[in-house]
Amino acid sequence: MANNREATTSVWADVKTPAAPPIEKDAQADVCIVGGGIAGLTTAYCLAKEGRGVVLLEADHFGSGETGRTTAHLSDAIDDRYLHIERIHGQTGSQLIAESHRSAIAKIEAIVLQEEIDCEFERVDGYLFLPDGVTATEMLEQECAAAKRAGLLNAEYLRTQPKVGFNIGPCLRFPEQGQFNPMKYLNGLVRCIQRLGGKVHSRSRVETVQGGSDAFVRTTEGVVVKAGHIVMATNVPFNDRVVMHTKQAAYRSYAIGLLIEPGALTRALYWDTLDPYHYVRLRQDPAFGKSEILIVGGEDHRTGQDDSSHDGFGLLEHWVRNHIPTATEVVCRWSGQIIEPIDGIAFIGHNPLDEPNIWIATGDSGMGMTHGTIAGMLLTDLIAGRENPWAAVYDPARKSLRSIGEFALENLNTATQYATWFTGSGVSSVAEIKPGDGAIVRHGLTKIAVYHDKDGSYHQCSAVCPHLGGIVAWNPVEHSWDCPCHGSRFDARGKVINGPASGNLATTTVIELPQTAPA
Ligand code: FES
Repeated sequence: MANNREATTSVWADVKTPAAPPIEKDAQADVCIVGGGIAGLTTAYCLAKEGRGVVLLEADHFGSGETGRTTAHLSDAIDDRYLHIERIHGQTGSQLIAESHRSAIAKIEAIVLQEEIDCEFERVDGYLFLPDGVTATEMLEQECAAAKRAGLLNAEYLRTQPKVGFNIGPCLRFPEQGQFNPMKYLNGLVRCIQRLGGKVHSRSRVETVQGGSDAFVRTTEGVVVKAGHIVMATNVPFNDRVVMHTKQAAYRSYAIGLLIEPGALTRALYWDTLDPYHYVRLRQDPAFGKSEILIVGGEDHRTGQDDSSHDGFGLLEHWVRNHIPTATEVVCRWSGQIIEPIDGIAFIGHNPLDEPNIWIATGDSGMGMTHGTIAGMLLTDLIAGRENPWAAVYDPARKSLRSIGEFALENLNTATQYATWFTGSGVSSVAEIKPGDGAIVRHGLTKIAVYHDKDGSYHQCSAVCPHLGGIVAWNPVEHSWDCPCHGSRFDARGKVINGPASGNLATTTVIELPQTAPA
């Protein structure tokens, strides 16, 4: 089943996910996992390997959230970079973080080999290079030293341009990184969990989560799963109302795929040092014959902010034409959501202020494939009551005074978004909304999200996000309503796609809408 909740399709959209019927009867499990992306499925796999009874519930289909929209870089070269990570987490923390990401790549490789998952996994080098116009290389040398202090002893500063097929100049080389096809990998995990006796269900949306001695989850269809432990692996935990959402912020990142002659570029991962940075890799897809697909991502911005004026795809294509002119036709474009934690690494562990048997994995920080795999390994240990050296650095309740500046800035940005309650409409009349487009319309003291579909019919729902009352904005790329406060997203008719909101935009009929498309 392809992802039909977004307007664009990713480079992995050709991969169909295995059939897994919705849950129809109440059930019981040692652990109930909510979310069928890489974090949820890896956690379910690791637990099932240890003989625990697992039930996994996915609201849509496996990988339909952000795993299916990643570019699937597998890297221990932290994208916030080690100079920053060391400043925030100290040298010991930096070493544990490096070790965990290195272990995650090795874990994926081991699962691929042991379970014979055909998912295009390969080890490749990674290159970190300077953007145009930056000639001072001290930053690269300092980053190389910080990476080595973190334990990446084979990180290497290259003073002269390596032969990789495009001009990257002096750079850092990180050997033994990786890449794969995330959807094929998820499919392999689903089959393994089923073989191990675990139950996995797609199209089973959870709306209620309760911890404690009688822990359970309830789906929108009223089916109850009782469990000893509950893992929320839903990208952002919708069971947590406030605490986690002040510690991370949602960003939208863009990606395009272009055809390129095989061998024109060395198969590797590439990242520049801009903020936000560009990221590059290759994929072979038989559908395009001998050509490879050059995947280029970046041009991030805060979710729900500047959507109409930000041309992410245009900026990416401009960057590619300047840097890799051998790339030709654009064959796919898509966007995805990145959850940026204030201190650069994910939150994995017990959900703060919750019962002791409620666990979360969130804050992918643009490294969702390794963070999701770390979640699988770490949560399995925590649920088993085993010590894990990574527990403290990933603890969702951690506090770092050194990241207080980032904390204040992100929350100031969020607070500012509530001002849109008092601004005018996006349009002066509903008739201005073109078919296939949406806009916010003021009605008295409130705001209405109006969508004009391609067939000419209009749809309206409240523009007030049910999470904490932000005003959603129209996302013209994915045809969704995105909340600028904490990143909740809703489809064009108001159905929730991404938390932290757990429910849909409220239905309303307060505006009198045209019955047919304007001529
Ligand atoms: Fe929190 Fe919308 S996501 S108010």
